[in-house]
Amino acid sequence: MCGIIAYIGDKPATPRLIEGLRRVEYRGYDSAGVAVLGEDGIWLRKSTGRVEELSRLVGEGTKSTVGMAHTRWATHGGVTVQNAHPHLDVTGRIAVVHNGIIENMHELKAKLQAEGTVFRSETDTEILPHLIRHYYEGDPLKAVLRALEDVRGTYGIGVLFADHPDMIIAARNGSPLVIGLGEGETVLGSDPQAIVAHTRRVIYLDDREVAVLTRQGCQVHKLDGRKVAQRQQVLDQDWGLAEKGQFQNFMLKEIYEQPESIRRCLSGRIQIDDGNAKLGGLNMSPRELVAVGGVVNLGCGTSYHAGMVGAMALEHLARVPARAEIASEFRYRHPIVSRESVYFAVSQSGETADTLGAVEEVTLKGGQCMGIVNVVGSTIARNCGQGVYVHSGPEVAVASTKAFTSQMSALMAFTLMLARTRNLSLEQGQQVARALLDIPNRVQEYLDAPGPIDEVVASVIHARYVLFLGRAFSYPVALEGALKLKEVAYVPCEGYPAGEMKHGPIAMLEKGTPVIFLAPTDAHREKAISNMKEVQARGANLIVVHNAGDAEMASIANVSIPIPVVPAYLTPFLTVLPLQLLAYRAGLALGRDIDKPRNLAKSVTVE
Ligand code: AGP
Repeated sequence: MCGIIAYIGDKPATPRLIEGLRRVEYRGYDSAGVAVLGEDGIWLRKSTGRVEELSRLVGEGTKSTVGMAHTRWATHGGVTVQNAHPHLDVTGRIAVVHNGIIENMHELKAKLQAEGTVFRSETDTEILPHLIRHYYEGDPLKAVLRALEDVRGTYGIGVLFADHPDMIIAARNGSPLVIGLGEGETVLGSDPQAIVAHTRRVIYLDDREVAVLTRQGCQVHKLDGRKVAQRQQVLDQDWGLAEKGQFQNFMLKEIYEQPESIRRCLSGRIQIDDGNAKLGGLNMSPRELVAVGGVVNLGCGTSYHAGMVGAMALEHLARVPARAEIASEFRYRHPIVSRESVYFAVSQSGETADTLGAVEEVTLKGGQCMGIVNVVGSTIARNCGQGVYVHSGPEVAVASTKAFTSQMSALMAFTLMLARTRNLSLEQGQQVARALLDIPNRVQEYLDAPGPIDEVVASVIHARYVLFLGRAFSYPVALEGALKLKEVAYVPCEGYPAGEMKHGPIAMLEKGTPVIFLAPTDAHREKAISNMKEVQARGANLIVVHNAGDAEMASIANVSIPIPVVPAYLTPFLTVLPLQLLAYRAGLALGRDIDKPRNLAKSVTVE
C-alpha cells in the first residue's frame, strides 16, 4: 500500500523519483504524485492511475535535486487528483507525503478550519502540512516535532520546506521508512526496493523517530528532539533490484524462481549428517525446544496458508500441538496466550498491520513471538527480535508465490528441528532432511513439464464457479489455489476440505463446473476417489493433480496433472505449482493486470 520515495543529492531528482515510484508500484496504488523544490517554490504534479501517466505529465521535470514522490492507495477520500499526495499547506511552501492513517483527523481538521484553513482534499494527510505550517517559525525540525505531538495514528512521512532546499524531514510511527546513504545523496523510501538502485547502506527508522536528511547523510532524533546515535546496516545481497528479465511479468518470474528461492531458504540450515536443522535466528537450545508445548502460526492470506501447512507438519512429524490462526482475527477474540507455546508471525512483507497486531497481542500477554519473514529489517522482523528470514529475495507481484514455498521451507526446517528433539531418530531425521533438500529439484522438474494447464485455463475462465478440493496437507493448498485464482483472474471460486464438499458446496456443481482436486498419493487416496465420483456424477469437469505414475487417478480425471512424487507432508510444495500457473495463465487469458490486480496492495499496512 502507498509508496514513498524522496531524494536529496547532486543529480536531477525527478527522473530518480519516477524510477523509485516504479519500484514501489508493486505495493498497490491508484494515484501518484511528485513534488520537487524549484526556484519559485514547490513544483507539484499529480495524477490518478499509473506511474506511467504521472511520468508523461512530469515530462522532463525540472533541474531540482531535491524532491519526493508518492503512490497512494485510497483510504480517506476517493481516487482523485486532489486526494493524491504530496499535499501542500495553504501557502504552498510545505509539502507532505504520508503513509498511514491520522486517527484524530476530525478533531485536528475542525481546529485548523476554525483558524480559517481551507482544505482542498478529503484526505487525513492534508492535516499534516497545515499543522506543520501552524507551528512553523523558521525551524523545520521543530515544526514537525511539534505537529506530531498533536497527531494520533500511524505515519511514515516525508516533508519538504521551500524555505529549506537543503533538507528533507522524515518521521515514522507504525509505517515503515528506510533511509539510504549514498555518495553525495540521501534517499528515503517506504521499502528497500525504492532505494537499492542508489545504495545498500541504510538506516531503518524506528517508531516515534524523526530524521533530517541532507546531501551528506542524516541525523535521527526521538520525538522529544533528542539525537539518536547512528546505526547503519548494509542490505543483504539477495535483496537485489527486482527486474523482470526475460519474463513477461513478475508473477511468472517469481513462480519460476522457486527452485532457487527454496534452496536459498534451506541452504546451510538443513544438515543431512545430523538429520537436523539449524535456525540460528531462533536462538533456541535443545532444552528449550523440548520444553515447547505448542506452536501457533499467525498470518494472513497466503502466509496463513503456509502457516496451516507448517502446523500440520509439526503435528505430523514432531507430535507437538500446532495450529494456524488468521492474524486479523486473533487479537479480537481475546486469545489465551500460553507461555509454553511458540508463536510465529508469518509474513512476506513483515509490514501487515493485522499480523503486527497479533504480534503485539502475544507480546502483551507474555508470550514469545518470532518472525518468519521475507523482508529484512521490516517491522514484524524487528518487533519480534528473533525469527527466521525466508530469503525469497524481493517478491514484487501482488500475488504471493515464491514467498509461500519459502515460508513452508522455513516452517519445515523448524519442524525438523523440533521433531529431532523428541520424535525422530537420526535415520528418520536424515530421511526428512534429504527429502526436504530434494524439493528444489522436484519443483524444477515440475516447472520444466507442467502438464495441460491451458486445458484447465479454458475450463475456468468463463466458469461461474470453480471449486478447489483437498484433504489434509492438500486442504491449505486448495485454499491457496482459490485465493490465487480470485486475486489474479477475478474468477469466482473457493477452496474447501474435500470431505466437506457434500455438506454444502456440492449444490453448486452443474454440468461443466471445474472442480480442481488435489489428490497426491497419501492416506486419503481412497476417500478422495469417492469424492471424485460424486463430483463426476454431477457432470462437473474433474481436474486432478496427482502423483506421476498413478494411472488410476489419471484415468478417473477429465484433465490429469501429474506432479513428481514426494512424501505426503511435502506435497504442498508440488501441488501448489499448477495452481499458481493456472491463476497466472487464466489472468493472462482474461487480460488482467497480472502483477497489480485491482483493489489489492502488496503489503496491507492498515487493519
Ligand atoms: C497473497 O497472494 C496475497 N497478496 C495476500 O493474501 C498476502 O499473502 C497477505 O496480505 C499477507 O501478506 P504478508 O505475507 O506480507 O503478511
